[in-house]
Amino acid sequence: MKNVLVIGSTGQIGSELTMKLRHEYTGDIVAGYIRGAEPHGELAESGPAMEVDITNATQIAEAVEHYHVDTIYNLAALLSAVAENKPQLAWHIGIDGLINVLEVAREKHCAVFTPSSIGSFGPNAPKDGTPQDTIQQPRTMYGVTKVTGELLSNYYALKFGVDTRSVRFPGLISYVTSPGGGTTDYAVDIYYSAVKGEVFKCPIAAGTFMDMMYMPDALRAAIEIMEADPDKLHHRNSFNIASMSFDPEIIAGKIREHIPDFEMVYDVDPLRQSIAESWPNRLDDTCARMEWGWKPEYDLETMTIDMLDKLARRLGK
Ligand code: SER
Repeated sequence: MKNVLVIGSTGQIGSELTMKLRHEYTGDIVAGYIRGAEPHGELAESGPAMEVDITNATQIAEAVEHYHVDTIYNLAALLSAVAENKPQLAWHIGIDGLINVLEVAREKHCAVFTPSSIGSFGPNAPKDGTPQDTIQQPRTMYGVTKVTGELLSNYYALKFGVDTRSVRFPGLISYVTSPGGGTTDYAVDIYYSAVKGEVFKCPIAAGTFMDMMYMPDALRAAIEIMEADPDKLHHRNSFNIASMSFDPEIIAGKIREHIPDFEMVYDVDPLRQSIAESWPNRLDDTCARMEWGWKPEYDLETMTIDMLDKLARRLGK
């Protein structure tokens, strides 16, 4: 049995991770939400929910106490493009919020998962086969909060014995909850346009490669890292994980194999393009594979088939 608090349970990752945790564990899986982003439907009906604003330490402590929480999934964050427009808020949520979580975890003996990202790397990290341990000097506030979060989480593990673990997520692709405000969002939006029969205006230039991952693999990674045997972990915050890397031409070409008349034109967004160019092309995830047996199940082909099928049903096409 596990009692889990998911902070950010109605967001891009949280909405699906909360449901998966409820299917896998018998304890209370608490959907933490902020005002204005309350859970609805199955998420609201299938388990407990509580208002937990990550910037409010008392709310985190109350939820942990009330439900005897042993594991916190901290999924509160602003994605990269939004964070560039609201850098102070991104820091407040990403770092002041993380300290709140880590302090509650220290006092109440909780394990903590806080995702990092491909955005934690900057332009001076090796672009292809980016190693687990290398220079991390991001130029975005999103990346600055992710690197700081990794360091802070490792510090709490070393100094106070808090069981912190995490992975560096690629761009995540799903047909359930849209991301909103990220640099990799185009790889989700392109499927919606294709299924709706619309011309897709791509905000990222041809030839710009980034790591991407299908949501079922990402959810499995988030659970498997927290279940891993701690004696085998040489790293904690955070593990590179990878499954596929492509540029807009490659994903558009893959969609055309299934929807031959799909059309894409370029309307490059300078902010997102400059962020994308500062990120790696492809991470090396050998350490995750060796230390806790990470292995993705989906590649571009199998993801595309599933995305197009599920989206067509959702959109009634
Ligand atoms: N998907 C995120 C973004 O684009 C990167 O981790 O901001």
